[in-house]
Amino acid sequence: QSLQTDPAKLAAARAAVALVADGMRLGLGTGSTASVMVRELAARVAAEGLSLRCAATSKATAQLAESLGLRVEGLDQIGWLDMTIDGADEVDPHLHLIKGGGAAHLREKIVAAASDRMVVIADPGKVVEVLGAFPLPVEVLQFGFETTRTLIRRALEELDLGGRDVLQRLTGSDALVTDEGNFILDLHLGQIPDPVALSRALQGIPGIVEHGLFLGMCDLAIIGREDGSVVELA
Ligand code: A5P
Repeated sequence: QSLQTDPAKLAAARAAVALVADGMRLGLGTGSTASVMVRELAARVAAEGLSLRCAATSKATAQLAESLGLRVEGLDQIGWLDMTIDGADEVDPHLHLIKGGGAAHLREKIVAAASDRMVVIADPGKVVEVLGAFPLPVEVLQFGFETTRTLIRRALEELDLGGRDVLQRLTGSDALVTDEGNFILDLHLGQIPDPVALSRALQGIPGIVEHGLFLGMCDLAIIGREDGSVVELA
């Protein structure tokens, strides 16, 4: 297993797991990098007998963590978390993020908001100067879905981001449905010159449940490298 793991992801995951202390309440992220972290965490817990309480950001992560013997509870059962460790699709120099490539950004944002500290783990391919090459995921209610898409297009025009593709995420030929029963729209923006303005505009559209911009939430980004070393951005 670990022989096939991307060494950059493994290095970042290990460095983050090294920050975990006995008794912590932890948020567990979603995605391939977070999965590596969950495996490393479970290995540490087994080796050192740590006592942790964990909240998962997706059904997939809950299942993986439980299968490895980690104690997973509902977020509200734990109440508040010391630290969340999660992946990201893009990280900019201000530690602003795009997340949601795995359609889990709604739960991820709630869990990160309930944490003293959000630590992001990523490989160097995720580090960008300007967010937006990765299509921005937006979780949208099924009710009035096309209307919401129209409202998003109008908001983009007002921000000089008009004419970009706003595509429904599919799985095979079916609409992707999130853990919370919603659809995803991916905004192919290319560049997001003003993430704060875009975030504000999207928050004003009623059918949007949550968008994948995480602004001012990440406290530390650990970027793993192929040689096993890490760079920390804070
Ligand atoms: C899940 O919705 C995402 O926010 C992931 O954290 C993000 O897509 C990173 O995933 P990878 O680690 O698989 O690149």
